[in-house]
Amino acid sequence: MSIKKILVTGANGQLGWELSQLVSSYPTFEFIFLDRTGMDLSKPDTFEKIINDIAPDIIINTAAYTAVDKAESEKEMAHTVNALAVGAIARISKQKGIRFITYSTDYVFNGVSSIPFLPDTPLQPINSYGSSKAEGEQLALQENEASIIIRTSWVFSSHGNNFVKTMIRLMKEREQLKIVDDQAGRPTYARDLASVTLKIIEGLNGGKNIQGIYHYANTGETTWYQFAEKIKALTGLSCDLIAITTAEFPTPAARPGYSVLDTHKIENELAIAIPHWETSLEQCIQKLS
Ligand SMILES: NC(=O)c1ccc[n+]([C@@H]2O[C@H](COP(=O)([O-])OP(=O)(O)OC[C@H]3O[C@@H](n4cnc5c(N)ncnc54)[C@H](OP(=O)(O)O)[C@@H]3O)[C@@H](O)[C@H]2O)c1
Repeated sequence: MSIKKILVTGANGQLGWELSQLVSSYPTFEFIFLDRTGMDLSKPDTFEKIINDIAPDIIINTAAYTAVDKAESEKEMAHTVNALAVGAIARISKQKGIRFITYSTDYVFNGVSSIPFLPDTPLQPINSYGSSKAEGEQLALQENEASIIIRTSWVFSSHGNNFVKTMIRLMKEREQLKIVDDQAGRPTYARDLASVTLKIIEGLNGGKNIQGIYHYANTGETTWYQFAEKIKALTGLSCDLIAITTAEFPTPAARPGYSVLDTHKIENELAIAIPHWETSLEQCIQKLS
């Protein structure tokens, strides 16, 4: 396909922002970034006009309801933004021959496994946020079988709200921090995810057949506690970190004990080498300082 115009939602989120930082290296594509005021995902009946006016060749939907704990008490809003809106964009994109890329989460799985989750592992969402994203995946593929869904996990960036920035702030404010050490996963630098998204667009532009569900996360698995230890080492902060269990840190939304995504499919199909999370974390922390 010949791609000229690309519409990106969620311009001010971690991934949306990282995409905006990379697009100058792709001068043949015209990117239109919309934040919540330009395209509000809680209002699916407004999408048709917005998409008609812009007439993109690709829509990249980075916007999402990502407040995992709040989603337990705001189920309807999470469902509208993460499921109904995604289905509506997929339906319009199918009608107009637009390719659609959207993102999902490791929380669509139950978190009980000893081997990494594959793109076709059966879904069993662990919390309301995960349920809303799982339904969004289903609607995206039901409305437009050519949709591309990239599941990711533990996203961090120098922009926006995330574990890395929260840890740095708390390590500066407190002498001691308790961090959960019995949840394993793969951190993902939003910049790397943005970069692989642009590779997908180049692939589509070159006629490559890319569709369906993919997993992308940085390589190497860790726990939140080990992740925090690495942040501490890279920043030189001096806070005491104490490893605790999930049971000692109750949250409104359940969290998976094991949520490691298997990324071989995207590595093989796009012929990419994914950076290790520690390397990407170092880059992110360099940007922050
Ligand atoms: N963050 C993670 O750890 C994580 C893990 C797994 C999967 N994911 C998925 O990865 C994708 C990118 O996430 P991210 O980390 O970039 O998320 P993020 O930093 O939380 O950004 C989400 C963006 O969505 C926007 N948004 C929320 N509700 C909206 C609405 N009703 N209309 C329009 N925009 C709305 C927010 O706007 P405001 O800036 O105005 O609030 C924000 O800019 C999402 O699909 C997410 O579900 C993220």
